[in-house]
Amino acid sequence: KAKAGPKDFLHIDDFDKDTILSILDRAKEVKAQIKSGDRTYLPFKGKTMAMIFAKPSMRTRVSFETGFHLLGGHAIYLGPDDIQMGKREETHDVARVLSRYNDIIMARVFAHQDILDLAKYSSVPVINGLTDFNHPCQIMADALTIIEHVGQLEGAKVVYVGDGNNIVHSWLYLASVVPFHFVCACPKGYEPDARTVKRALKAGVSKIEITNDPKEAVKGADVVYSDVWASMGQKEEAEYRRQVFQGFQVNEELMELAGPKAYFMHCLPAERGVEVTNGVIEAPNSIVFPQAENRMHAQNAIMLHVLGL
Ligand code: CP
Ligand code: NVA
Repeated sequence: KAKAGPKDFLHIDDFDKDTILSILDRAKEVKAQIKSGDRTYLPFKGKTMAMIFAKPSMRTRVSFETGFHLLGGHAIYLGPDDIQMGKREETHDVARVLSRYNDIIMARVFAHQDILDLAKYSSVPVINGLTDFNHPCQIMADALTIIEHVGQLEGAKVVYVGDGNNIVHSWLYLASVVPFHFVCACPKGYEPDARTVKRALKAGVSKIEITNDPKEAVKGADVVYSDVWASMGQKEEAEYRRQVFQGFQVNEELMELAGPKAYFMHCLPAERGVEVTNGVIEAPNSIVFPQAENRMHAQNAIMLHVLGL
């Protein structure tokens, strides 16, 4: 059983390697049970979860709500117009009120400080469902997917191509805890946060490279990973970014350079024809849909962990 950590799930590097790997093992077990059709495991029976969304979502909303329900709980969706955290009501009041009704709070917000404030004032566990800074549940699902397809995460070469964004920060945090080879290939000026890179390098756990050369970066990759060039909150920059990110599209030529063992991954939603070609997403080595499915299984294990179940 995983060691006790902080009450919340906000950043992967808040946990040690054994805890992260044991959450991933748990995810495999619960996944097998759910896939077998067995509906008798109901650890969340009688529990409720409030889900705060300041941004749109398909995967995060549906995977959390469905996963919590399949294991016996009830999840409440609060969309951008419902509680208007920070506008209609202050974050610390939202945290204290929701903690009195619910066993877990899950939130997707803009400013990272908002999730930190929620966690500080909430008396129940808070799970980070994406902020402008990171997306830990996504990268836990990605790690599970790599373990299933590559065989193991330890020692794998994961090459992210695109914007040095929230997804990259969570990859860097994972690389601070579990040893693998992580490369981020991004245009100049779009590198991940320098302090976060420094912190991951200082952890000394993984080989980490930040480069501006995607063609060189992908060679020998086990996984080539892509995300949108303009994240939520940056959509007005989308046109400009399309110019700057020329050469960072994951297309057939880049996958060819990566070599025959490379899988393609993308957190989705994808803009086909922009950061990735339709052909790459649809190719047999693309594992984007098993990856999306694993959001639910990884998060079920994360929820079990924060509830101490
Ligand atoms: N990958 C992901 O978080 O998707 P949604 O934005 O649809 O939740
Ligand atoms: N970087 C993207 C991830 C979406 C799941 C965003 O923040 O919009």
